[in-house]
Amino acid sequence: PPAGPMGIDPLRSVAKEMKFMTGNIRQLLGSGHPMLDTVSKYYTQSEGKYIRPMLVLLMSQATATLPKRSRMYSRGAEEVDRPITSSAVLADANPSSPLTAPTTHNGDGVDASVLPSQRRLAEITELIHTASLLHDDVIDTSVARRGNPSANIEFGNKMAVLAGDFLLGRASVALARLRDPEVTELLATVIANLVEGEFMQLKNTVLDEKHPVWTDETITYYLQKTYLKSASLISKSCRAAALLGDHSVEVVEAAYQYGKNLGLAFQLVDDMLDYTVSGQELGKPAGADLELGLATAPLLFAWKNNRELGTLVGRKFGEDGDVDMAREMVRRSDGIEQTRALAQEYVDTAARAISGFPDSDAKNGLVDMCSKVMSRRK
Ligand code: FPP
Ligand code: MG
Ligand code: MG
Repeated sequence: PPAGPMGIDPLRSVAKEMKFMTGNIRQLLGSGHPMLDTVSKYYTQSEGKYIRPMLVLLMSQATATLPKRSRMYSRGAEEVDRPITSSAVLADANPSSPLTAPTTHNGDGVDASVLPSQRRLAEITELIHTASLLHDDVIDTSVARRGNPSANIEFGNKMAVLAGDFLLGRASVALARLRDPEVTELLATVIANLVEGEFMQLKNTVLDEKHPVWTDETITYYLQKTYLKSASLISKSCRAAALLGDHSVEVVEAAYQYGKNLGLAFQLVDDMLDYTVSGQELGKPAGADLELGLATAPLLFAWKNNRELGTLVGRKFGEDGDVDMAREMVRRSDGIEQTRALAQEYVDTAARAISGFPDSDAKNGLVDMCSKVMSRRK
């Protein structure tokens, strides 16, 4: 099958839906303020991989034929599609403002097996993810994202942070429109989890910087952080997709387990690519984690067998030559291989979680995503 814009195959069963993703997301981001409009839409210009929306759409399709249970809340298309606009004052002051109703009716592209609420959920996951990238690039003083200058470079930190907040605001409005308290709670928890994960990374509470020693907790702390920072959004949005489809607790739990295990594998591979792939290929600087003082899975596994690394970990690779030395020690260790092996275990668990779903293109797509996570280069 043909590869998508970023090398990831959009997977045939959701290809039509995906075509409308960028447009739909941009419609959720209209602001009467031209600069805010520009900054908040900046990361939608070069299309991302859309992994999270793709997973939500696939999960929605893969569960579509499973038995439903009746739930209390109704979510008609009219409700979900009602225009989301800036404050009345701003809108009135800008009669030509580009605010229009989000189009979830995709014409020919619409897929009857995906509910309007599930389609909107897919867009919400990308909004939250993009907001976290805007903030992340400020925190990481990043210079490039998706092959272009990052938003903090292009517009400065203040506007990048505010644009991220704006995305979260619009995501919250769209979420509230789904009129589903359980789904709202899940995605609100994701936003909190992203911050918790980022804090765990900022300040490691199990590592004594003066006496850095490797313990089993070193890995559990890293995995907990990884869940919060990366797997929470993927797992809880898969869960939310199943909830919006009115599925049984078993199906909802299977969707969650799939997302959790795939999400953990996804970040493990991400941390591995930081060691193994060039910046050119990644579309962002490679080897960035060590430069940021971050010890990720490949290094933590290397550290287990080479306690010398502890000194470098303790000073966050901050002295001249530390980064190169650490990188070499990791490359000469089996840390990268162990990271890959752990990621493989997680994707295998993810695939097992949905093995009871009825056969369909979408289910195959979800299973495909497991091998794609393992083979991706960016
Ligand atoms: C990318 O990680 C960043 C994340 C997955 C989450 C970042 C979360 C925050 C900044 C918390 C606050 C934000 C919101 C919107 C709640 P990375 O830096 O390892 O990856 P990269 O190489 O793509 O930059
Ligand atoms: Mg970053
Ligand atoms: Mg970061």
